[in-house]
Amino acid sequence: MIFAAILAGGIGSRMGGTDTPKQFLTLGNKPVIVHTIEKFVINDKIDKIIVLTPQNFISHTNHLIEKYIPNNEDIIVIEGGETRNDTLMSSVNYIEGNFGIDDEAIILTHDSVRPFVTHRIIEDNIDAARKYGACDTVIPATDTIVESINGQTIESIPVRDYYYQGQTPQSFKINKLYNLINSLTEEESKILTDACKIFTLKDEDVHLVKGEVTNIKITYPYDLKLANTILEDIHD
Ligand code: CTP
Repeated sequence: MIFAAILAGGIGSRMGGTDTPKQFLTLGNKPVIVHTIEKFVINDKIDKIIVLTPQNFISHTNHLIEKYIPNNEDIIVIEGGETRNDTLMSSVNYIEGNFGIDDEAIILTHDSVRPFVTHRIIEDNIDAARKYGACDTVIPATDTIVESINGQTIESIPVRDYYYQGQTPQSFKINKLYNLINSLTEEESKILTDACKIFTLKDEDVHLVKGEVTNIKITYPYDLKLANTILEDIHD
């Protein structure tokens, strides 16, 4: 089976100004999270879409789905976790508990606040996860990357050609992810901020999938303005 986990458990503190997490703010004529879920709904290879939100937004999310994507039995809303990684782990545990995990099962994990993921990116993630077991969606770094440890002076300026910016989806064979998560020491779990990092930590290959500059993550108020511009551009 192919699962999509829409990670929507955050509160959007950097967005500021509102008690409503950014994934529920309006973009064009519907909430950001609805745009995002719809991108996965239209892909008929995806069997189940698990949406993970803060506990107090579960029923709101169910209402939104009822309103914008009615009569869809493949979308399940459950509670996310304390951190993004906890949310990811909740999705994996839910799948394990409710569907079981066979060797072919794949999960696409995607930020709820990246509403412009494309059909091509999703297809490439499915292919790469099947073929290589793990993949990350990236775009080449455009700015020069400067490393500073103390925040005052430059430590080094790495060769830009070797650097990419990570986007989502990040996709995996679930049994591989599940086994790796369970093999982590407590110390390793602490430094683990990213699912792909678990793989690299354990010397497992993570294949690169080409992202898009428009596959932005809405983090700050400016990003929401930018998202509205991208949306208008798509509809032109
Ligand atoms: N996320 C999640 N569970 C968490 C934290 C984050 O599912 N406990 C999700 C967010 O909802 C978002 C994605 O991970 O879709 C990317 O994270 P980020 O942009 O950092 O979102 P927030 O944590 O909500 O934002 P902030 O860091 O500004 O509070």
